[in-house]
Amino acid sequence: VAGIAAFRGSDLPKPRLLLDWIVLDGSDALPKYRQLYFQLRSAIVSGRLTAGSLLPSSRMLSQELGVSRNTVLNAYEQLAAEGYLESSVGSATSVAPRLAASARQHAVEEEVGSIGSQRAQRFMRSVALSLTLPDNVAFTPGVPAFDEFPRKVWSRLVAEQSNRMQPEIADNDMHVGGYGPLRESLALYLRSARMVMCEPAQIFIVSSARAGLDIISRLVADADAAAIMEDPGYNTARDVMHAVGFQVIPIPVDAEGLRIDVADQLAPRAQLAFVTPSHQWPTGVSLSAQRRKELLEWTERVGAWIVEDDYDSEFHFASRPLATLQGLDGGRRVFYTGTFSKVLFPSLRVAYVVVPGPFVELFRRAVFISGQEPALHIQAALAEFIDQGFFSRHIRRMRSLYARRQALLVDALIESAGDSFPVERPAGGMQMALSLPQRYPAMAVTQTAARAGLHVRSIEMYALSNPAPNALHLGFAAVPDGEIRPAAEALVSAILAAR
Ligand SMILES: Cc1ncc(COP(=O)(O)O)c(C=O)c1O
Repeated sequence: VAGIAAFRGSDLPKPRLLLDWIVLDGSDALPKYRQLYFQLRSAIVSGRLTAGSLLPSSRMLSQELGVSRNTVLNAYEQLAAEGYLESSVGSATSVAPRLAASARQHAVEEEVGSIGSQRAQRFMRSVALSLTLPDNVAFTPGVPAFDEFPRKVWSRLVAEQSNRMQPEIADNDMHVGGYGPLRESLALYLRSARMVMCEPAQIFIVSSARAGLDIISRLVADADAAAIMEDPGYNTARDVMHAVGFQVIPIPVDAEGLRIDVADQLAPRAQLAFVTPSHQWPTGVSLSAQRRKELLEWTERVGAWIVEDDYDSEFHFASRPLATLQGLDGGRRVFYTGTFSKVLFPSLRVAYVVVPGPFVELFRRAVFISGQEPALHIQAALAEFIDQGFFSRHIRRMRSLYARRQALLVDALIESAGDSFPVERPAGGMQMALSLPQRYPAMAVTQTAARAGLHVRSIEMYALSNPAPNALHLGFAAVPDGEIRPAAEALVSAILAAR
């Protein structure tokens, strides 16, 4: 605002930005206002658009882009509501001052933004957002309790396995697709704990759930095919499918999970459905038994494949997790993915995909070509960790730890919030969605909370094109017990201040 006042006083008009790099893709399933919003947000977050720069008026930009004025207004309004842009009545819209990015990141963005293929430009338009992760403070979602990991046992197993320089550990080509004993241990675990129907040969060990999704996406359909996913949903899954060339069609989620009726209308020819049925990311809703049945019938009818991302099913303390889609379907149309990023720790880089029988040989070749396999001695250490009972012991301990941390958080929130807003007690997981009354906008809370040293996300940050519930996404698993209450009290103050 100071910048605008200065320019008025000096009568030297500040130039409005030329946004020639914005490309709105008419064939993309995301509405144009949403594409515009993401591209501008990414440019602001990365520092390509600096604080105080003046944006073109909505009329100018709509003419330049050949879109309706409402498209531009919608994007500008959303960015203003989130604090990325500023405008006051009668004055121009400018980039808000608070988000100055480092010069280095700016330079990298500039360089990368102008090189490479069309696919590279797609990466730049969406993926940059996911790379701007903040520090690991209360309440970053998705982070496990590092302090409670059995480090000593793990280091011993890794040391033992890396000392075994026999061919089956030292020669990668002996275990394309995964270390045999680990695939066997996982098959036992998945059959008994998750009712996944699988043989060890169907299990592929990859370096992350997203690597698994990348490989699946390349195998089930060709470029320009349509994929559906939950909205709000796991943005990285969208980025992966989008980068592979899919039209990603966002489907709204309600209290029973993915709206299959909407999928039926919007995506009659989809070839892939990405879902998190155990504990929808980020709303926490569990896909109801009826919807599970409808989803399987829908995929059968349209000929689509399902990716069932079961990223944190181990941590459902109140209720037994529902049967997996994979188990319900007998593993015919479902690729089941799991990751050790949540249940152990993210930098481990071990995840797995259970593929339908006919895909086994294809997948073996695809994993080989991708090179997305974790180190064999790590896989071997993990197999020992499971076989010697440390894995199930760790799950049990983390279940009760996370249940306790969640209870501490919810109790503290209920007490601090008093009559201001109700707090519901969720069923489990490592993070929870906290619904807020409309008078406390979740996006504004992310700002007031940041000033108090807290990191919270708004569910809106995971929205693709449908309106998201007014709620916060709070991770509690990694917050030490003693820090939960003060952080929860600070959060409630931040919520009340965001009014
Ligand atoms: C829904 C969901 N699935 C999967 C993952 C991570 O899997 P990976 O680290 O194995 O790619 C995450 C991580 O944040 C997630 O939120």
